[in-house]
Amino acid sequence: MAHPLSKPPEARADWTVPQDWASYSESEHRVWDRLYDRQIGMLKNRACGAFLKGLESLHLSRAGIPDFEELSDRLRRLTGWRVVAVPGLVPDEIFFEHLANRRFVAGRFIRKPEQLDYLQEPDVFHDVFGHVPLLADPVFADYMQAYGLGGLRAQGFHSLEKLARLYWYTVEFGLIREKGDLKLYGAGIVSSFGESVFALEDPSPNRIGFELERVMRTRYRIDDYQQSYFVIDSFDDLLRRTRDADFAPVYARLKDMSDIAPDTVLATDRVIHRGTQARAYAGVKG
Ligand code: PHE
Ligand code: FE
Repeated sequence: MAHPLSKPPEARADWTVPQDWASYSESEHRVWDRLYDRQIGMLKNRACGAFLKGLESLHLSRAGIPDFEELSDRLRRLTGWRVVAVPGLVPDEIFFEHLANRRFVAGRFIRKPEQLDYLQEPDVFHDVFGHVPLLADPVFADYMQAYGLGGLRAQGFHSLEKLARLYWYTVEFGLIREKGDLKLYGAGIVSSFGESVFALEDPSPNRIGFELERVMRTRYRIDDYQQSYFVIDSFDDLLRRTRDADFAPVYARLKDMSDIAPDTVLATDRVIHRGTQARAYAGVKG
């Protein structure tokens, strides 16, 4: 991370803060409801089964911003995970430490009614609606914990930039094949009105079979929809290729290899859809 973050005085040593659920206003709860309603119809046939099942088993369809205590109780019974509130971005070390202990850190603020589509910082809707349903899936739950442990280990290899790309192209922007069809599982996609359709159906982006080293070499965009999405075959397969692999030789190999631009298609790629990149050429944003 380029800028060292400083801990706000109200935060605990592990950077957590009380969610203070009782302090949300009625209009803040209604923003959650509007976002929820807008996503849910669209995701019925687009999100992967485990995501939809998680929404259900965690009772996330209930009106209003979820209470982290109550959500954590349900989650703990299913997979041992908890959701804890943090004031904003936290240092890498703190983030990995929480994941390694099955704690998911979530923002507690919610976007303003006039910012339904565009946000600079992840809010409670992105963090909870986007990320938490999959933590109810036992295999994905194990992947997230393994990622936390992997993050702590990657620091010793000075390879965080590479590992962060794995998070980006799986946890945030991943696609999965389910009974032959492509489905969404990345939190950054499922919590976005526009990208939910774009990632799956638009001719612009590449859709490429997931390959670990390829993904770790690929830069990503933070200012627009992704130009490439990577498709996994199952969460079991993802877990095998990551938790069950030693990344030390991978990091060593990648040190001498060039990065790949976000829109590139390689001859070695398992291409599912070769993107037109029309959106990028047109310079569309937002
Ligand atoms: N197995 C990886 C390592 O050896 C750790 C890891 C697991 C990384 C899962 C990402 C996801 O470092
Ligand atoms: Fe996120």
